[in-house]
Amino acid sequence: MSSAASSYRDKVERAASYIKNICPEIPCTAIQLGTGLNDLSSKLELEHEIAYEDIPGFPRTTVESHQGVLLIGRLGGCRTLTLSGRFHFYEGYSTQEITLPIRVLQLLGISSLIITNAAGGLNPLFLPGTIMVIRDHLNFLGENPLRGPNIEEWGPRFPDFSEPYGPDLVKMALDSADHCQTDRVVTGTYVCIPGPSLETPAETRWLRQCGADAVGMSSVPEVIVARHGSMQVLGLSLISNVNDPDNFQPIVLEDIIAEGRRASARLEKLIVEFINRLNDRG
Ligand code: HPA
Repeated sequence: MSSAASSYRDKVERAASYIKNICPEIPCTAIQLGTGLNDLSSKLELEHEIAYEDIPGFPRTTVESHQGVLLIGRLGGCRTLTLSGRFHFYEGYSTQEITLPIRVLQLLGISSLIITNAAGGLNPLFLPGTIMVIRDHLNFLGENPLRGPNIEEWGPRFPDFSEPYGPDLVKMALDSADHCQTDRVVTGTYVCIPGPSLETPAETRWLRQCGADAVGMSSVPEVIVARHGSMQVLGLSLISNVNDPDNFQPIVLEDIIAEGRRASARLEKLIVEFINRLNDRG
């Protein structure tokens, strides 16, 4: 193995043992919270709170709207691990750095991962506040976290991506939404762009023509690594704004965060119901 790969592996292993020392009983399910969706973490019956900066080898969040803490506790009765705060390509991190926490989750034995993000709607039928259950994605970052030497124990060299998001989990999320009577829940394709500049009207038109329903600057690297590591993944995008190339409106970060806050109760209910169903299934 190259020295870069073995030092990355050491970093991941060290971070995982640090967390395991604090919390020997790691839950099976993890949630990664996106922009404006941190309110959910306040609903946890907290057992452990670990600042990212205390975990050896963890990158630092440079984005104000992201907290940077790993939380373990009960959400709606089910033990979960929550990553509140993520790392982005636009912050200057490589996709391997962005996904280090996901590799750590893999080593900790997490088997199901719920990834949430705020996204811009490209599908004209969406409204701000729509929750999109991700069915598929487009990786437009121009980088893949699996590039470079492959660590065979972590996953195969050429992982199959015919079902990046488990259809059974998509169905379970839609059933959970029905059960909770959550309105404005749809399914669709998410495209990840590098950012940090937001899309122009021409880019918006093109992304839509490529088949995307929503656009954002995160999540896809994490999903690639989670799937490589055999986790099952549910992706949820909160549509904070809808971008119409023929009537383009400025996209404002404060509005994205505010929409996240407004939708957080609906999203939280859905996630709690989903986690309970997942736990019952075993
Ligand atoms: N574009 C990219 N990322 C986003 C958007 C958007 O319109 N809204 C929230 N995150």
